[in-house]
Formats: sequence, C-alpha cells, structure tokens
Amino acid sequence: MTSIASTPISYADIQAIVADDFAIMDEQVFGSLNSKVKLVMNVSQHVINAGGKRMRPLITLLCSRMLEDSPAEAAMHLAAITEMLHTATLVHDDVIDESGMRRGKPTANATWNNATAVLVGDYLIARAFNLLVGFGSLPLLKLFSDGTCDIAEGEVLQLQHQHNPQATEDDYMRIIDGKTSRLFMMATQGAAILRDKTEHLPALADFGQHFGNAFQIIDDVLDYSGDSETMGKNLGDDLAEGKPTLPTIKALALLKHSDTASFEKLRVAVQTGKVDEAQDIIALVHSSGALDYCRQRALEETKLAQEALAKLPDNRYREGLFQLTQLASARLL
Ligand code: IPE
Ligand code: IPE
Ligand code: MG
Ligand code: MG
Repeated sequence: MTSIASTPISYADIQAIVADDFAIMDEQVFGSLNSKVKLVMNVSQHVINAGGKRMRPLITLLCSRMLEDSPAEAAMHLAAITEMLHTATLVHDDVIDESGMRRGKPTANATWNNATAVLVGDYLIARAFNLLVGFGSLPLLKLFSDGTCDIAEGEVLQLQHQHNPQATEDDYMRIIDGKTSRLFMMATQGAAILRDKTEHLPALADFGQHFGNAFQIIDDVLDYSGDSETMGKNLGDDLAEGKPTLPTIKALALLKHSDTASFEKLRVAVQTGKVDEAQDIIALVHSSGALDYCRQRALEETKLAQEALAKLPDNRYREGLFQLTQLASARLL
C-alpha cells in the first residue's frame, strides 16, 4: 500500500473505481423515496438534491467489491439506504445545531421549520428501516438497529456536554464514536454481511471506526480553520453553540497552566456560547497549539484505519479505500 505521505488521488478517481455501482446507488437514493405526502417528498428531495459526497455509500460499494469482485444489487441498495440514514441524521443535526446551511444550500429547518425537519428526518429513518426489512436478514437488521441507537445516543451525549467546559477528550471520543463512526461501521460491516464474509467483520469494524473518528476530528478542525464555501456549511458553528469539540477541549487543557487569562476567556465562551468575540476566541484556539494536536490525533486514527485495511483482501478496491482515508487526511493540509 501507498504510504501516508503520498499525494492522494481525487475523490472522482475513487468513485470511478466503482462507477457503475455508484450510478445505480445514486439513482436509488432518489428512487427509494415514495411518500404519498407531498411535503415529505419536497423536503427529502431538497436535502438529497443538494448533493453531498455520498461517502458512506461509496465505502459500502468499495467494501463489497473488495470482498468479492462481482456486481451486487444488494450492496448498491444497502449503500443507498445508508445514505438515506445519513441524510436523516444531518436533517436532525441541523435542527439541534440551529444550522442554516448544509451542502451549500439552506437547511431544511431554515427553509421550512424545525417541526417539519424533525418529522421528515423521522420519515427518512423509518423508510430506511422499511427498506432494510426487504433484505430478510436479521443480522443486517440488528447491525443497523443497534447502530442507529448508538448514533442517536452519540448526539444526545453531545447535547449533554453542550456548554460544558469540563468535557474531556474521552467524552468527545465517546460522542463521535456514536454520532459519526458508527455509521461508517455499518457501511463497512453491512457489505460483509451481504457477501456472507463474516470472517472479515472485525477488521471492517476497526477500519470503519477509526476512519470515522479521523473524519470527524478533521471536520471539527475545519470548523476552526476551513473554508465555508468548500465545506458547504457555516463555520464557527461549534463555538457559537458552546459545543466542546476536540479543538476547544485540547485548547482548554493546554491553556489551563500556561495562560490563565486566555483559559478563562475560552472557558466562558464554551459555557455561554458567546459569539461577539468569536474571532478572538478562534485565534486563541489556533495559538494554543490545539489544532496541531487534533491533526496529530486524526493522523493516528487514519493510521489505525489503514492498519485494519491491511488485514483485508488486497485488490484495487482496498486501494480505493486506502486512498479515501488519504484524501480525508489531506483536507488538513
Ligand atoms: C457531515 O458528513 C457530517 C459529519 C460526520 C462531519 P459529510 O461531510 O460526509 O457530509 P455530506 O454527506 O458530504 O454532505
Ligand atoms: C454531524 O455532526 C452530524 C452527525 C454526525 C450525526 P456535526 O454537527 O459535528 O457536523 P456538521 O458540522 O453539522 O456537519
Ligand atoms: Mg452536531
Ligand atoms: Mg451540526
């Protein structure tokens, strides 16, 4: 496998490895919505049409082909369902986070209202399970129902820590393990269940979990250092919400003993979500060295994901997954 320092290929190049499967999956994400209620269709289509990288379904498709190189309708269908679940969590998340922009478009809550967004998010989850039943696989249903509980718990845990400057890195890891990494694990392990290659479940779980962790840490760094246009969402939201993500958790830990005045400023900002001094606070997080620590942690998680990948069948699909982890890390550069 290529080393972590090598230049990654583009996202489109990775998609091209499973181009035919990807096109069918993408059609199915739209095609699987069949509500008789027009508002449900309008809101769902608004979010799904807005785009998104379709990264979780891409992971499922690559994993499926890595385990057995033949077209699998079931994997494409499951990949589409995974995207539907992901979309539902984003619709709900934007209500909780009071976010106004997603995928470069106004969010569902901003376009309609919170109640509509919550109910349509519920519909998307219900519809995903409705489709999952069609596989007639209890192990698959168990993976997805356990996982969906974990995702919801991760978001609730995060809510509990809102405005809590005492949140620790362990708290943060528990939160992202649920809200983000669990879906990555469902995307990888689901492919193995469908291919009946259960011997690969442990390595796929490790890959999904560590890749998910790296992805979320990087996303949280970019909330402080990224570009709103590229990200398709407003930045600085985490701070405005008093959400203790790894950048603030680490900055607080670093400033506590070195600069008590700055520590106090940041502590109060997390506690109150005070945004009038946002630029000062963001500058504090940068100068504390916390973002470098987060980048290091993201690279460690990426390396663990790549080590798990090394235990799986060696072919061009595995290389595609490897490149995907490289590409995610490259967002930090
Ligand atoms: C956003 O996920 C939520 C996080 C886990 C940070 P993505 O960055 O994959 O969002 P889309 O699907 O491309 O919009
Ligand atoms: C994303 O969480 C939603 C889930 C993983 C369920 P965040 O709140 O951290 O991500 P963005 O910034 O809204 O995409
Ligand atoms: Mg959130
Ligand atoms: Mg959010």
